Amino acid sequence: MYLGLDLGTSGVKALLIDESQRIIGSANASLPVSRPHPGWSEQDPADWVRATEAALDALKASHPAALAGVRGIGLSGHMHGATLIGADDQVLRPCILWNDTRSWKEAADLDANPAFRALSGNIVFPGFTAPKLVWVARNEPEIFAKVAKVLLPKDYLRLWLSGEHLSEMSDSAGTSWLDVAGRCWSKTLLDASGMREDQMPGLVEGTAVAGRLRHALAARWGMGEGVVIAGGAGDNAASACGMGTVAEGRAFVSLGTSGVLFAANASYLPKPESAVHTFCHALPETWHQMGVVLSATDALNWFSGVTGMDAAALSAELRDTLKAPTSVTFLPYLSGERTPHNDAAIRGSFTGLGHESARVVMTQAVFEGVAFALKDNLEALKSAGTALSRVTAIGGGSRSRYWLSAMATALGLPIDLPQDGDFGAAFGAARLGLVAATGADPLAVFTPPETAETIEPVAALLPAYEAAYQRYRALYPALKGLSTL
Ligand code: XUL
Repeated sequence: MYLGLDLGTSGVKALLIDESQRIIGSANASLPVSRPHPGWSEQDPADWVRATEAALDALKASHPAALAGVRGIGLSGHMHGATLIGADDQVLRPCILWNDTRSWKEAADLDANPAFRALSGNIVFPGFTAPKLVWVARNEPEIFAKVAKVLLPKDYLRLWLSGEHLSEMSDSAGTSWLDVAGRCWSKTLLDASGMREDQMPGLVEGTAVAGRLRHALAARWGMGEGVVIAGGAGDNAASACGMGTVAEGRAFVSLGTSGVLFAANASYLPKPESAVHTFCHALPETWHQMGVVLSATDALNWFSGVTGMDAAALSAELRDTLKAPTSVTFLPYLSGERTPHNDAAIRGSFTGLGHESARVVMTQAVFEGVAFALKDNLEALKSAGTALSRVTAIGGGSRSRYWLSAMATALGLPIDLPQDGDFGAAFGAARLGLVAATGADPLAVFTPPETAETIEPVAALLPAYEAAYQRYRALYPALKGLSTL
């Protein structure tokens, strides 16, 4: 048995697979996000541990024998978070998350140093880890002085599970401190942000062994000694391992809290000016590109909060048949945007509202707005040398037929839906656990699922979608700079 643990923004998922990669069981435990000021987004690492314990205790109750048979664990987690650890491994402040944009000024300061784009292959985005540390140095110097280690969120779980300070390439590529071509910490980039190499965890590949489960936890879950913990991956690369997105030309669109258009690359193809992210993949000597939309299901959940209706009910009001876009356009920039704008200050908007604009029309605009944001990402990937001919959909938002159809029509690409199953980050993490524990060939393990169904673009609506996309494109430059932040 192998266990995948995915630390998502909205909850922890634990998933068990057997040697033949059959899913044996899974359990979830939800997590809160705190937003103490506009643009801030934080979590308490103690909540991650509590949620992981809750998910594993639930698995122990439902599948005690299978859990006891675990030989390998893989970790996945939301990327870029700054978990600051002092001597004795105590947490110094709440983790600053991937969608926190408070360090926009520090990010711009670092990005002005050409070494960052040259060595990390990416813009220094405000959500990345390095500018967060510069913000802490400037605003919370007493905390900064105590930082012994900076850990990414899933690597904090590893510390709790194994006692080790270790990370792997895919997640570390999103810190702005990694030499992404060389797959090692860059002293130049650490120096340029006031950090030291001893504050970084050790590095392995995602498929390698990175720690063993502590005796007390193994005993609690009925496991034997020496359970291997794999390097694992950032959640997007872990999803790619789950979906078999490992060979050149394969791609997925993820509709989670964030929206991601992810393409696997056989070589390192940085193009920072496109705001495309170029990171190490979880397999040795491979890389990937992705465009990131900060609010995908987060935008629907926000609208659900505003209307007091749950997201599934909002989606049900639209029914399944795609409609032509109305005059209402929604920009999903609730936390600013990464690809293609790199703009932490921009905020979302509804435009084109009329007396006839009922709630259902606004829900439709939310779905279209996120689809258009991903179309912007498709164009950005194209400019970075990656042209896609089809994508596979994953993530909670892909349960909405309307959203999938809107997405296929906005992108002008067929969207494949995997057969019933759970091929996301927790499954990819479990596969990484299997590879690390057995030494199996990753390419033989990370195979794509069967396609159950393909959602085609709705040909009759392509012109209306194109016109609406052009209106969407025109709004960003018109609204840029008008935000009061
Ligand atoms: C990727 C990113 C998000 C998080 C959220 O760069 O910031 O996709 O990993 O899960």
